[in-house]
Amino acid sequence: MLRKISSIDFKSSNTTSGKTVLIRVDYNVPVENELVTDDYRILKSIPTIKYCLEKGAKVVLMSHMGRPKGKADSKLSLIPAGEKLAELLEMPIKFSDDCISEDAIDVSKNLKDGEIHLLENLRFYNEETENNYEFASKLAKHGSIYINDAFGTAHREHASNAGIAKHFATKGMGFLMEQEVKFLSDKLTNPPKPLSLIIGGSKIDTKIAVIENFLELADNIIIGGAMANTFLLAMNYSVGMSLVENDKVDIAKNLLKKASKKGTNIILPLDFSGELDSFGSGEICIADAKDIPENMICEDIGEKSIKLFSKIISSSNTLLWNGTVGVAENPNFAVGTNRIVDAIVENNLTSIVGGGDTVAAIRNYNESIIEELSHVSTGGGSCLEMLSGKKLPALEILKKWIKKYLRQTGRCT
Ligand code: 3PG
Repeated sequence: MLRKISSIDFKSSNTTSGKTVLIRVDYNVPVENELVTDDYRILKSIPTIKYCLEKGAKVVLMSHMGRPKGKADSKLSLIPAGEKLAELLEMPIKFSDDCISEDAIDVSKNLKDGEIHLLENLRFYNEETENNYEFASKLAKHGSIYINDAFGTAHREHASNAGIAKHFATKGMGFLMEQEVKFLSDKLTNPPKPLSLIIGGSKIDTKIAVIENFLELADNIIIGGAMANTFLLAMNYSVGMSLVENDKVDIAKNLLKKASKKGTNIILPLDFSGELDSFGSGEICIADAKDIPENMICEDIGEKSIKLFSKIISSSNTLLWNGTVGVAENPNFAVGTNRIVDAIVENNLTSIVGGGDTVAAIRNYNESIIEELSHVSTGGGSCLEMLSGKKLPALEILKKWIKKYLRQTGRCT
């Protein structure tokens, strides 16, 4: 059990002033021309921030952005993320151009109740990814309470989400982290059945462990996206000029064999829409999976597949979805992915969705529809690792501390 922020006291006992909370968020968001192009992670960090502010605390936020490899890089500044957050919260935010400088620490120390201070990209220092002790202790000077709400980074063991924990007596996880753990772990431990998985995207590698982890538990595993081409190739279908991972055909064969032994249905598309000869500028065509022309590039599932997948969704009680079933950034080939969203919303089932591309595609289709899904994860790699049954280092550290806290205090959270 992890300590929730609702059990933390944010007011100093001897004064009416609030404590300073250092929150690790994941603001590793896409930025173009200095503007955030997808604010989902920022939006999802707001409940924890607001809760701390409402309790009278001062808030210091820290995050990484991209992989600058220990060097300051203005293209990977957190300024656009801070501006987006200020816009969403409709309040000003203080920003420091360094995460451990004396000046930055002074800004945190002089915050007034209800103020927010965002630190510059943690990865401008190699010490962050090296989980350096000194670096973590400098970061810890920013506050007296530590909250980890960066689920997207929970599979990393870095200074800001691992080493830092030992520098705080009071620490816990934020609402976002709590929600992610509840859906990606607790709810999938003994899910209402039938359980169906939709696995899409282009790379088998990143999804093998998830498929293997659910081979026993899932009733149906639907494969879409370019991954489906490799599976079709493994079944001796011809896939024309479609994207395939030739070196993964054996892996696909192996997964098909294992699924059949365990009695899990692997469902592949029955038909496709795509282009002839050229990706992005070819003539659009439709073909059955058994009859794909030599010059066709499959880019989305076709109507027969949409019908089949929708039927499986409507007969499921739990659905786990990671990866689009087509090239969803092109409206011509977002149809399959959009219809899956419709099928989920029409049927009252527990739906758990993950993967940056999938979330972006759903928001692109209909920004508000996301609220109708049970849980849409902010994690990329962390989501896949959790769904693969792996332990996430940052969470393990929090769990260890919680156990100790409960033993020492006899308190429940
Ligand atoms: C992500 O976007 O998946 C997280 O922010 C982690 O980023 P990383 O893969 O660079 O550690």
